[in-house]
Amino acid sequence: MMKILVLPGDGIGPEVVDEAVKVLDFIFQKKKIKVEFDFELIGGVSIDKYGVPIRDEVVEKAKNSDAILLGAVGGPKWDSLPIDKRPEAGLLKIRKALELWANIRPIKIFPELSYISPLKNSDGIDFVVLRELTSDVYFGQPRGIFGDYALNTMIYRKEEVERIAHLAFEMARKRKKLVTSVDKANVLEVSSFWRKIVSEVAQKYPDVKLEHAYVDAMTYYIILNPQKFDVVLCPNLFGDIISDEAGGIIGSLGLCPSASLGSLDLGGGRIQGLYEPVHGSAPDIAGKSIANPIATLLSASMLCEYSLGMKEEGNLIETAIRNVLSEGFRTQDLLEKKSQDEKKKSQKGKRGKTKIKVVSTKEFGDAVVKILKKFLI
Ligand code: IPM
Ligand code: MN
Repeated sequence: MMKILVLPGDGIGPEVVDEAVKVLDFIFQKKKIKVEFDFELIGGVSIDKYGVPIRDEVVEKAKNSDAILLGAVGGPKWDSLPIDKRPEAGLLKIRKALELWANIRPIKIFPELSYISPLKNSDGIDFVVLRELTSDVYFGQPRGIFGDYALNTMIYRKEEVERIAHLAFEMARKRKKLVTSVDKANVLEVSSFWRKIVSEVAQKYPDVKLEHAYVDAMTYYIILNPQKFDVVLCPNLFGDIISDEAGGIIGSLGLCPSASLGSLDLGGGRIQGLYEPVHGSAPDIAGKSIANPIATLLSASMLCEYSLGMKEEGNLIETAIRNVLSEGFRTQDLLEKKSQDEKKKSQKGKRGKTKIKVVSTKEFGDAVVKILKKFLI
């Protein structure tokens, strides 16, 4: 039987994960597929109960699962802890223990929600940030705070760059055939090495165009001309930063899912992975059932595709979300922000011909299930 380990974590994590589990469970029942869900603690809630951000037995459970569905980790309550004791350390431990080296973060504008984008023209934004996830300064040794100095090590090994570069070109081949590799090769040796290896791998993919961009320039191009990008290949640290910016241009990190894949082949074209929204724990809105669950629902859709061999069902989740948006359902964070003047002019509660219905996190999830009911009779 296929197994999913659910790690809701902190802040809004449990609320959004609840909706994803509800949607997945509904699909499995309809399809008569037996999938076992197991629930465990990670992050601050694990620190509070067990004194550590993740227990070894939870890491073991993760290793023995087909997929892990994660909410978010962290919050102000644990901010003063030393780096290796913080909630984030739990997430990094699981990424490393399962060697989940490829982090896929699709950035796609929802036409129904284009009004929340800060850009004048957000039409057709559709690229993927492919972030290396188990190396770089995140894991390099030595590291530490040593009296009057502190040290981290930025490092990439040849094989680490090669495997992520190959994946970037494979992905681009099925898309717009452009890889933009991000580095800081004008200053850092590690980046200059990264650029050299990526260029070597590119030789094997003559049908795909390769461009290099310095990370500082890249943050600028993403705002100026996001439509041009296809696969944006990043080392771990730069990918962390670029993906938040990319979430910003489509209007919200709350719309950005992610899949972290390793090399564990589960057979039948399935691969072990961890799925999580790119947004954080959003402690300011936690516990109010107002957060939108879209990023987590889309992560569940990726989970179906990569780890369960259920691409079609995964796509249905995405279609259902779009239907729910077209019907006018919005959580509070997805409302159009209008000035007082605009509000007076426009009819209250209306957008175009569709009446906007403000719903809770749970109601949004229910609406998605309702649409899926129609698709999966
Ligand atoms: C992310 C997050 C994590 C990261 C944190 C929570 C450790 O920001 O997934 O982007 O830095 O990778
Ligand atoms: Mn991040």
